[in-house]
Amino acid sequence: MTVSTPDRRDSGNAETRSSSLDDRNVVLTVTGSIAAYKSCHLVRDLVRAGCRVQVVMTESAAEFVGPLTFAALSGRPVLTGLFSDVPPGSPVHLQPVEWGDVLVTAPATANYIGKLAGGLADDLATTIAQAFDKPILIAPAMNPRMWKNRAVQRNVDLLKERGVNFMGPVEGAMAGMDEQAGVGRMAEPHLIFDRIEELLSDPTWRGKRVVVTSGPTREPFDPVRFIGNRSSGRMGDAVARQARLKGADVILVRGRGAAGAPPEFVGLVEVETAREMSAAVKEHFDRCDLLVMTAAVADWTVKKPSRSKLKKRDGAPVLTLERTEDILAWACRNRKKQALIGFALETEKHLEEAKRKLVDKDVDLIALNDPTKADSSFGGDSTRLTLLTRDEKVIELPLLTKHAAARRLLDAVEPYLPKP
Ligand SMILES: Cc1cc2nc3c(=O)[nH]c(=O)nc-3n(C[C@H](O)[C@H](O)[C@H](O)COP(=O)(O)O)c2cc1C
Repeated sequence: MTVSTPDRRDSGNAETRSSSLDDRNVVLTVTGSIAAYKSCHLVRDLVRAGCRVQVVMTESAAEFVGPLTFAALSGRPVLTGLFSDVPPGSPVHLQPVEWGDVLVTAPATANYIGKLAGGLADDLATTIAQAFDKPILIAPAMNPRMWKNRAVQRNVDLLKERGVNFMGPVEGAMAGMDEQAGVGRMAEPHLIFDRIEELLSDPTWRGKRVVVTSGPTREPFDPVRFIGNRSSGRMGDAVARQARLKGADVILVRGRGAAGAPPEFVGLVEVETAREMSAAVKEHFDRCDLLVMTAAVADWTVKKPSRSKLKKRDGAPVLTLERTEDILAWACRNRKKQALIGFALETEKHLEEAKRKLVDKDVDLIALNDPTKADSSFGGDSTRLTLLTRDEKVIELPLLTKHAAARRLLDAVEPYLPKP
């Protein structure tokens, strides 16, 4: 059996490819744990992101999930036996070693980890791993008592010393097992996916500093109520993560109303109001190379918020609003070398409005979001952006995940970054 030629799976409506995973080869080894079914999701997500995935299964793994499932999801035959289907003279066991950019084992059994630590290679999965000289990521899954076993722990330490990356296991009930609490459950596929993306990323922005604003601001009118907006912060979080994957040091100034957890490995500054966001940007602006303003900053704030909670019985309050500071305009006036990206969300004459903003604010790039387009979701996971650059280039991106769009955005601003 040979490692077959590249193919692309249909990624549905949204084009989900992002450049760190696009066109990369992932060898995914599945070993004999109930968590093997979770790796089906991992294969699907990797293929959707543009990877080629070669699944390798141990004999025990095939007791849990049929190779056919993985073959269908990856679009290529699953490799199982060391000696099966080998054409004479063909070193089939070494093909995935040459071919793969990363080796991921998920789930990894205690047995597999032990064999790797001991230098054993008695099946295809361990033979590949012993010869693999590019990044290896292991996601163990096992009964908490097994995980605590000193021999298992020692094997994990040995592999870590040799540069093998581990993800999990985490605390939680084991799928279909005795619901035993403790650490042993395989890390969730989306987290393994993120880690693979990190391992495959090309850190060409190392040494660069990026400030990203994200999410909504909230303008209080009494101690418990505020005027807010619908921004989820997903776009800003995606920009921050992609800048980090490019190797930059990232400060993420994030409105507290943003959805979900912020990305990892960024300097997080949580803010509430437009005034706080402005102060945080000003604090970090001097030392940055790029400012990306994705946050939905309130245009108005309440002039005199009440110090005590407004009472219903006192009738509807009349709120007097005043303009907040235009942070992007401040950044344009005070820039020295920094590149600037602004976001525009226009419901009418959107292209003209975005062009006007580009010129008026003198920024390097405007990302235009047209919320009237049916598939451009405010708060969703995908977006259709139009990028307008200082050099009058208009780049219409297709419908992309916010991560893929963020990656394209950062690629497009690269020519405007200060030269080292
Ligand atoms: C129902 C069942 C579930 C199992 N789950 C795990 C597991 O989660 N982790 C583990 O290390 N071993 C587990 N085992 C034991 C492994 O399947 C066994 O050690 C096997 O030899 C591993 O082979 P492999 O490492 O070549 O895949 C399980 C066994 C059974 C019968």
